[in-house]
Amino acid sequence: MTQRSLKGWIGVFDSGVGGISVLKALVAELPHENFYFFGDSANAPYGEKTDGEVYQLSSRIVENFLERGCKAIIIACNTASAVAAAPLRHRFPDVPIIAVEPALKPATLAPKHDRILVMATPVTLRLVKYHKLAQRWGSRSHVISLPCPGLAGRIEKGNLDAPDLKALVEKLVGSYAGTVDSVVLGCTHYPFIKGTIREVVGDVPFFDGGKGTARELKRKLAQHGLLSFSSGPGQVVFDSSIKTDQELKLYGWFFRQEV
Ligand code: DGL
Repeated sequence: MTQRSLKGWIGVFDSGVGGISVLKALVAELPHENFYFFGDSANAPYGEKTDGEVYQLSSRIVENFLERGCKAIIIACNTASAVAAAPLRHRFPDVPIIAVEPALKPATLAPKHDRILVMATPVTLRLVKYHKLAQRWGSRSHVISLPCPGLAGRIEKGNLDAPDLKALVEKLVGSYAGTVDSVVLGCTHYPFIKGTIREVVGDVPFFDGGKGTARELKRKLAQHGLLSFSSGPGQVVFDSSIKTDQELKLYGWFFRQEV
């Protein structure tokens, strides 16, 4: 089966639906661009795999995007960014590859920043990239790095108001209720349940990497002379490694949610 050309499109991917929270920020910042979103839901969650597996999966997706002509790539996944962004940039130096990272910088620069809770996948928090980030910004604050196994995988299934999801959030973050100044959502799946996390932790500021990534993409496209000349609205196309109408409907549903 020949795959549609993506010449001039921006390829965006995640282990699954999480990257759609980033995609929303990208579309808001760059409404004239065409975005092709691929969710690797058949292999989600990435955050509990080995680094080698995450690299192989990410690499295959990026190769496919580039074969089809994408002009830029967004790794809309903190886990895949931490593992694969540097080696992929090294392999494909001519294409802008934009990664996301936990938004620790804005959290530490916020007026109240004594205790910051960073929620992310086990892989993201284990890697050197995160430790460097925490070292760089962590001296201003007490940073609590909390791996959240199972959470992205559960969000992946939708049905975000169900009691089992609230119970999982309580189990993970209940002991921090009322004790932190802000929360960094270091996994792109988590913005979809910000309301539930807030109910448990308390009404504090939340930070995620979506808007920063969108601004970075705009800068990089301008730098490379790759911004779209179109004045009409761009297209957004969803694809998934789970090839069912139901899965794509679920992606559309996530895209319509407020984050
Ligand atoms: N959404 C991804 C992230 O930002 C990964 C979640 C997962 O697949 O474990 O880390």
